[in-house]
Amino acid sequence: MNDLVIVILAAGQGTRMRSSKAKVLHPLAGAPMLSYVLDTAQSLQPKEVLVVTGYQGDQVRAALSDYPVKFVHQAQQLGTGHALLQTQAELAGFKGKLLVLNGDTPLLTVQTLNNLLTAHQDNALTMLTAVLPDAAGYGRVLRNGQGKAVGIVEQKDTTPEQAAIREIATGIYCFTCPLIFSWLMQINCNNAQGEYYLPDVVVLCHKQGLPMGAQTVSEINEIQGINDRSQLAQAEVVIRERINNHWMRRGVSMINPAVTYIGKQVVLGRDSLIYPQTIIEGRSRIGEGCTVGPNCHIVDSEIDDNVLVRASCVITESKVGSGAKIGPFSHLRPQAVLEENAHVGNFVEIKKSTVGKGSKVNHLTYIGDTQIGKGVNIGAGTITCNYDGVNKHKTIIDDGVFIGSDTQLVAPVHVGENAWIAAGSTITKDVPPEALAISRVHQTHKKNWVRRRKG
Ligand code: UD1
Ligand code: CA
Repeated sequence: MNDLVIVILAAGQGTRMRSSKAKVLHPLAGAPMLSYVLDTAQSLQPKEVLVVTGYQGDQVRAALSDYPVKFVHQAQQLGTGHALLQTQAELAGFKGKLLVLNGDTPLLTVQTLNNLLTAHQDNALTMLTAVLPDAAGYGRVLRNGQGKAVGIVEQKDTTPEQAAIREIATGIYCFTCPLIFSWLMQINCNNAQGEYYLPDVVVLCHKQGLPMGAQTVSEINEIQGINDRSQLAQAEVVIRERINNHWMRRGVSMINPAVTYIGKQVVLGRDSLIYPQTIIEGRSRIGEGCTVGPNCHIVDSEIDDNVLVRASCVITESKVGSGAKIGPFSHLRPQAVLEENAHVGNFVEIKKSTVGKGSKVNHLTYIGDTQIGKGVNIGAGTITCNYDGVNKHKTIIDDGVFIGSDTQLVAPVHVGENAWIAAGSTITKDVPPEALAISRVHQTHKKNWVRRRKG
């Protein structure tokens, strides 16, 4: 829309969060709450989006550098009215609709905003309001005898009668430019918080007798502002539900979505099944036909199609090829790569290593800094000794190798193609292809030893 500019107010510290991090950067489903507001703003296809930053402005800009928005600096946070006034120079000459959103109201939907914009028409001001069962903390809408909105009073400035009003200002407004800036220059900070309140323009609009509208949202969780940690947790529930519903609509099954946590940037393939208590975060991608969980934690990892991730696995910054089977209780640490149909079983830890096609590492094993070829079988309890206390060293295991249980491979070491290693060996030298390596004492029997000992 060429006559629409959106301004997002995001300069406040968010004192009530009691955090060293700016409020708008606190995450919901792993992404800053402000990113949800930006997504919604962009869906409206405005001519421009301006974000007013201030407190920790550099961090806020850095976190949102992917978005094609312009940042405007509010050096001192003197209130929401003052924040909007900072965009005046940027919007000089602009005649059209100015939609104001708050960086701390991330649940708002495109549809609600479209309704607001439609209702705005030739108004000078249209505000979004809601009727809440508990209005505490919000600005209350004051109406005159004819039911016309005449002003907004902030929680801290309310009289007891005003505090009983349940219709609140959501902080979302549509204004007509440049009229709004003339109002912003008239408001003052004579109030309980000593701030320039944006909602004070409502009184000015009313006094000038200009057309004003108020749209009431029925879906009240949409307009929930996040000011403290408990509101953050409530918003997380709504976001999680939206994300899960999105994926279920696209053919993903979740046994219990209420305890399934999918990050905002995660992609899930159809016909995958996610068991409860599973958390998938970061830039993770799960292919089609996978089964994951219960109780798995997957971060920044790529899982191809038809992979089975059994209970209680932790997978971080790893890649898993199609048809692989993992777990229960496997740990894939950064740069683990499992090729197609590889199997990694219980109590196995893999770090910075590749497990080739169809290879198996099924029980109680540590594999670090290792390249495993195709069709390799690693016996139970095998350890790659990759660290000498100072440096890390590589282990290379070629195709077709069979490693007996309880083997230690002291790196750097290379096991040649199709070689075998006898169980219980400590391998310190390279093993030639096709050879059997064995490094353990021969078994001897001391006859009648027990009886002699007792005697
Ligand atoms: C605000 C509204 C209140 C409304 C509520 C809805 C004001 C004075 N009050 O209250 O009527 O019911 O939102 O959630 O507007 N910000 C700046 N610069 C500043 C101050 C704030 O950019 O100097 C930004 C904040 O980062 C935040 C937004 O404006 O994203 C709202 O500020 P906040 O302090 O949370 O206002 P509320 O007290 O919630
Ligand atoms: Ca707020």
